[in-house]
Amino acid sequence: MADTKVYTASTTAPVNIAVIKYWGKRDTKLNLPTNSSLSVTLSQDDLRTHTTAACSSTFSTDTLILNGESQDVSGARQQACFRELRSLRAALESANSTLPKLSTFPLLIVSENNFPTAAGLASSAAGFAALVRAIANLYELPQNPTELSRIARQGSGSACRSLFGGYVSWEQGTETDGSDSLALEVAPASHWPQMKAAILVVSAAKKGVSSTSGMQATVATSELFSHRANVVVPQRMEKMKQAIKERDFETFADLTMKDSNQFHAVCLDTQPPIFYLNDVSRAAIRAVDEINKKAGKKIAAYTFDAGPNAVIYYLEENEQAVLGALNGGLEGVEGWKNVTASADVSIEEAFLQP
Ligand code: ADP
Ligand code: DP6
Ligand code: CO
Repeated sequence: MADTKVYTASTTAPVNIAVIKYWGKRDTKLNLPTNSSLSVTLSQDDLRTHTTAACSSTFSTDTLILNGESQDVSGARQQACFRELRSLRAALESANSTLPKLSTFPLLIVSENNFPTAAGLASSAAGFAALVRAIANLYELPQNPTELSRIARQGSGSACRSLFGGYVSWEQGTETDGSDSLALEVAPASHWPQMKAAILVVSAAKKGVSSTSGMQATVATSELFSHRANVVVPQRMEKMKQAIKERDFETFADLTMKDSNQFHAVCLDTQPPIFYLNDVSRAAIRAVDEINKKAGKKIAAYTFDAGPNAVIYYLEENEQAVLGALNGGLEGVEGWKNVTASADVSIEEAFLQP
C-alpha cells in the first residue's frame, strides 16, 4: 500500500550576532567566505525562528512558507540545503530498507521569525539554521551540529554559526569543495554567562541592499577590502578567541567595536557606497562611547550588522550603567530588548510525528 502519511518535525533556532564579521565570499555558490568570523548566539527566549518541516508523497512540490507568505524555493541556496539533506536521508534508506522513503517526498517548510526579517538582525542565520535542523530532525539524521553547519552555510553563510549556542567561530577553510568551512564552538554559553546584549531596534524595515549583494559589491570594488580580509581579520580572530577564553571584556569590547566600524568602512568604500548605518545608529555609537568614558573603562560594546539596528554587549554587573544611559539618551529608537547574549542551544526539543 502506498505511504500517504504526512511526516513532520519542528525546531527552533537562535539568532547569532557576529563580533568579527563575515563580509565577502571566495565562492558564491558554496558560500565560502574570504575570512573567518566569530559570533555570540543570543537566547532563544527573545529572538528565534520556529520551523516545521513536513513531507509526504501526497505533496506536489517543495514549498517554503515564511511568516505566512509563500517563498520561491527554486534559488540555489534552498535547493542546496534540500539536496544535501535528501542525500543523507537516502543513504540511511539504502542501508535500511524498512525506513519510509522520505527522501523521495516533496517537502513543506513552514517558518516564522519572531523578530524583523531582512532588517540586519540575522534572520537568514536563524532561518537557515532552523530549516536545516527541522529537516534533519524529520529525516532522523545522525549528523552533529558541525556537520549540519556545512549544509546551513550553503543556505546563508552566517547560518552555520546558529547551530551552536555560546561563542562560535566559522573557520573559513581552504578546500575548494567547502568541506572544511564549518562552525566550531569556541566556548559554551556557560563559560561566560554574565554576557548580555541590548538590541536597539532603529528600524524594522527590510534593508535596501541584501547582505548577499552588498558583500559581492564590496569584494568587486573596495580597495580596502583585501587588507581587512587577509591582514586584519586573521589577527583579530586569534585575539578574540583569547579574550573570550580569559573572559576579558575590555579586549572583547575593543575588538567588537573596531570590527563593526571596519566592516561599515569597507561598505562605504564600495562603489556605489553602501550605507547601513543611519543618524540614530551613529547616536548609539556616541552614547556607548560616553558610557565607556564615564566608566573609565569599556563596559559596553556596540556592533551593527548589515542594517541600522544596534546590538550592545555588556556584562550583567553593568546593566544599570549601560541601559540607564541608553534609555535616557537615545531618540528615534523604535524599541529595544535586553536579552541574554548567550544560551546553549537545545537540540532535544525536536519531535517526529508520523
Ligand atoms: P538578515 O540581516 O535578516 O539576515 P539577509 O539579507 O541576510 O537579512 O537575509 C534575509 C533573507 O533570509 C530573507 O529574505 C529570506 O530569504 C531568508 N530568511 C529569513 N528568515 C528565514 C526563515 N525563517 N526561513 C527561511 N529563510 C529565511
Ligand atoms: C554583516 O550570512 O546574511 O551579518 O551568506 O549571503 O546569506 P549570505 O550573507 P549573510 O551575511 C551576514 C553578514 C553580517 C556579518 C556576520 O553575520 O558575520
Ligand atoms: Co543575513
